[in-house]
Amino acid sequence: MKSISTGNNAPQINDDENFQHSLQEAVNQRRNFAIISHPDAGKTTLTEKLLLYGGAIQQAGAVKARGEQRKVTSDWMELEKQRGISITSTVLQFEYKDITVNLLDTPGHQDFSEDTYRTLAAADNAVMLEDAAKGLEPQTRKLFEVCRLRNIPIFTFINKMDRPGQEPLSLLDEIESELNLSTFAVNWPIGSGDLFRGVIQRDSRDVILFARGERGKQSIERRLKINDPKLSEFVEKELLEKAIEELDLLEAAGSALDLELVREGELTPVFFGSAMTNFGVRPFLDSFLDMAQGPVARNTTDGPVDPMRETFTGFVFKLQANMDPRHRDRVAFVRVCSGRFQKDMTVSHARSGKNIRLSRPQKIFAQDRSVVEDAYPGDVIGLNNPGMFAIGDTLYTGKHVEYEGIPCFSPEIFCWLRNPNPSAFKNFRKGVNELREEGAVQILYDTDQSKRDPILAAVGQLQLEVVQHRLENEYSVETIVDPMGYQVARWVKGGWTSLEQIGRIFNCKTVQDSWQRPVLLFKNQWNLNQLEQDHPSLELSAVAPVVS
Ligand code: G4P
Repeated sequence: MKSISTGNNAPQINDDENFQHSLQEAVNQRRNFAIISHPDAGKTTLTEKLLLYGGAIQQAGAVKARGEQRKVTSDWMELEKQRGISITSTVLQFEYKDITVNLLDTPGHQDFSEDTYRTLAAADNAVMLEDAAKGLEPQTRKLFEVCRLRNIPIFTFINKMDRPGQEPLSLLDEIESELNLSTFAVNWPIGSGDLFRGVIQRDSRDVILFARGERGKQSIERRLKINDPKLSEFVEKELLEKAIEELDLLEAAGSALDLELVREGELTPVFFGSAMTNFGVRPFLDSFLDMAQGPVARNTTDGPVDPMRETFTGFVFKLQANMDPRHRDRVAFVRVCSGRFQKDMTVSHARSGKNIRLSRPQKIFAQDRSVVEDAYPGDVIGLNNPGMFAIGDTLYTGKHVEYEGIPCFSPEIFCWLRNPNPSAFKNFRKGVNELREEGAVQILYDTDQSKRDPILAAVGQLQLEVVQHRLENEYSVETIVDPMGYQVARWVKGGWTSLEQIGRIFNCKTVQDSWQRPVLLFKNQWNLNQLEQDHPSLELSAVAPVVS
């Protein structure tokens, strides 16, 4: 297996005069993206095929095989093995043509969507992956909303065309009407399922023929001109006519591939293919890298910072403890936003004001790590984190900057977390704090100080299981979880003062988060609606305000 690139394409920077030029080149050659999809749409399969083209793996199946290896070496990931799911996120980097591609991998299970939200905060582009038979699914819609909030350009890959699917026109229509996102089909399918024959490239009108190739190998596309008489050997006349007719309909409808609109997140280029049979992946990768935006300016509390800013800046978007149980380490994932990051660099930590020397920055490819010598905007580096970093933290050199934080999303499951063994109290507290900092779960507390048990607030049930499992395996504390029967949480915008102003409230429980801010818990949406009706002046938020 080829080891992960450390940016060999990156220019060697010799002196200050060349710096801007070299930085510009490094910025120009970087693309970074995340895949948003519903479980089972084929994200792992597509990732694998992309890595195959990038030469980062030699054969398909390697991502899963690596997964297996990881599951054996890491005890908390034992849970993943038991449940057959992917919980962890990793960052995969590969070189393709002259581009350094950073794929921010996201967990597959919907209970971990919060982790995906954070990863999207570090992404410049998103690939929306749909199963052709299922169309838009709940998790995809949710993640799309996050992309929309940040105007991330979205590229759509409609997968599993080798299986019977919905009509392609209705799939486009669904995206347009339900997501309010314009579409532009870059290629158009000829048939589907057993009758899938390939795609017509919209720009050249060439036909790329589908072949049920070997699963694990790079496919060689066979292209024919649309008027080539040989085409009739491979494609039935009626299927071809139907596809051409539909394509003509699209042309007549007149939307153009306006890159400006793509970059603003208003128009999505759509590709049809089949990741499993490796069909359409390479043309997708080529067009995607052509159209995707490079590292963009990111907002700080003082306005946007351009990637071309000379000094290094970046922010922590994910923390992960104990990725490698042999070292019991904690890794902070940092998205580089501007300038050049270099090994052994001393940076300022905006929240604490401290200076830190970053001596062992890493690139992490699944479970493999390699030390990073330098990194550029759009890259992600892993830093050892002895409890210093929190999600949203800014690191910088030069003039002070602070990136806008990453919000936490509204939990829907609440329970007391009890430690039945008083002698394990220290470990219990340490474990709870570390898992909270890592963002594995949100922690709330009763306002009554005598009730010291923390409240676990999670987006999904599985998150609770992971927390208990990790507390037991990593901190040697067995815990008991007691459901509280609440389903909805709201942060109070004006804090304790505005809560006091409205006096006693009913049918909800007031608790506080780790920053002592009031949070209201409701048994159901109806109780929340009631409170909002009774107290229209009370401003509530489903999302925890960013901690600065
Ligand atoms: P996920 O990460 O989004 O959850 O999906 P994953 O790639 O694991 O794919 C889910 C299932 O869909 C897998 O089948 C995979 O082989 C299949 N799949 C992915 N892309 C395509 C495609 O283009 N065409 C067809 N027909 N199937 C596809 P599985 O049975 O769960 O696993 P496996 O035994 O095939 O590995």
